[in-house]
Amino acid sequence: MLSSLTLGLLLATACAATPGKFNLRPFKIDLSSEVARMKTLVNNTRLPSHDLYPEVGIANGIELGTLEELKNEWTTSFDWETQQAELNEFSHFTAEIEGLTVHFINQKSTDPDAIPLILVHGWPGSFQEFAPVIKPLTSLHSTDGKTVSYNVVVPSLPGFVFSSPSANASWTYKDTARVFNTLMTEVLGYETYTVHGTDWGAVVAYDLYANYNTTVRGGHFVFVPFVPLTPEQLAAENITLTPEEAIPESLYVMWSTTGDGYFHEQATRPKNLGFALYDSPVGQLSWIGSIWKNMSDPRAGTPPSLLSNTPILTSVSLYFLTSSFYSSIWIYEQNQNPLSTVYSKPPTDAPLFFSMFAYNQDYWPEEKVREVGNLISYEFHEFGGHFPAWDNPPALIEDIRAMGLFLRG
Ligand SMILES: *[C@@H]1O[C@H](CO)[C@@H](O)[C@H](O)[C@H]1NC(C)=O
Ligand SMILES: *[C@@H]1O[C@H](CO)[C@@H](O)[C@H](O)[C@H]1NC(C)=O
Ligand SMILES: *[C@@H]1O[C@H](CO)[C@@H](O)[C@H](O)[C@H]1NC(C)=O
Ligand SMILES: *[C@@H]1O[C@H](CO)[C@@H](O)[C@H](O)[C@H]1NC(C)=O
Ligand SMILES: *[C@@H]1O[C@H](CO)[C@@H](O)[C@H](O)[C@H]1NC(C)=O
Repeated sequence: MLSSLTLGLLLATACAATPGKFNLRPFKIDLSSEVARMKTLVNNTRLPSHDLYPEVGIANGIELGTLEELKNEWTTSFDWETQQAELNEFSHFTAEIEGLTVHFINQKSTDPDAIPLILVHGWPGSFQEFAPVIKPLTSLHSTDGKTVSYNVVVPSLPGFVFSSPSANASWTYKDTARVFNTLMTEVLGYETYTVHGTDWGAVVAYDLYANYNTTVRGGHFVFVPFVPLTPEQLAAENITLTPEEAIPESLYVMWSTTGDGYFHEQATRPKNLGFALYDSPVGQLSWIGSIWKNMSDPRAGTPPSLLSNTPILTSVSLYFLTSSFYSSIWIYEQNQNPLSTVYSKPPTDAPLFFSMFAYNQDYWPEEKVREVGNLISYEFHEFGGHFPAWDNPPALIEDIRAMGLFLRG
């Protein structure tokens, strides 16, 4: 006769069979052996002794003083071991899916009713973009007699840090979405789950929201894959903006006229740039660091922002130490025109939640977000930018929890 104990053991054995299929393995970050070389390269890199035209400020790219400050911090106070140990406090795994090695954090709640949630990062980020929000989202939170918590999964996009590059140049975000759906349903065994995405991660997560309607039962976004409207287009649709809403719209105009050079280079000549910066940590710092500095809230580093120089250096170190800067930028070449100009509702009734952060470099008004999903809630935050998990973690956590509370009914 089977006791419940042996039944439990049999079930455990059956579950263990699934990891075999995907070669699921625990993973620890250990890049320590490469750090001394990186620091020597940084230290040996010369920068101009003075800027030619300092009066133009940030308008033509990262300011020399900003780059020097980051560079000096990298070889002096920045301690990779501390950062690596903090990132290793998360439960990391790798799995083999469709021939790719997919790295992911699988941070489970102690709550048996926790809702599965996948957080999908963008460029120039990595899984580390979500570090401040992962553990809070797993913890049990109560509001008005309802409770919510999440089992949080944070994969690395193909070609980013510990995930292997995509199979070929024809790979698109739709292939990544399919692989991540397999991760959630077959590798981790969730029948249904929720998604959150930012930047390229929002392109992937929205594809999951729109095209996997039986498994994806809720989506929270800070970015949607639809081309933002120009001021003229907004006016033509009779959408008027408050002074606060005019901030991200003006940043979008700035980005799309003078701020998207990196985008075009990565979308057209990833080899030139990728090889040029491949073994140059300061080169990557200038290119990537400029985006962290320019696309975040200008009050970066003051509460509630946690975006000091340290996470920026950790992020660039992750790219450099895993030699993945080159493979990361291919996502731009592989997905020409990733944002649709036609706003339309996908075939899903899953609730959609949207958070607009004022210093994001794109603006989507509530009226337009309503056109692309079953919009339940639209929040506007005056603090925060393109990296809300670092720029304004309390707001992002609260808004993602709102989705779970709604699903709890
Ligand atoms: C950087 O170079 C200076 C001067 O050459 C040297 O004193 C220092 O130890 C070096 N630091 C690192 C981290 O290599
Ligand atoms: C690229 O790889 C994908 C996934 O392995 C495959 O389905 C596709 O046929 C490949 N395309 C080319 C052009 O090789
Ligand atoms: C905008 O408002 C004008 C004046 O009220 C109206 O004629 C026009 O149809 C409106 N346009 C849209 C797209 O709603
Ligand atoms: C980003 O760069 C633009 C100029 O291209 C500048 O107007 C804006 O203030 C910058 N934002 C931050 C947060 O540095
Ligand atoms: C899910 O998508 C399928 C195929 O597009 C569609 O037929 C179906 O109605 C959708 N279900 C919901 C609940 O929207």
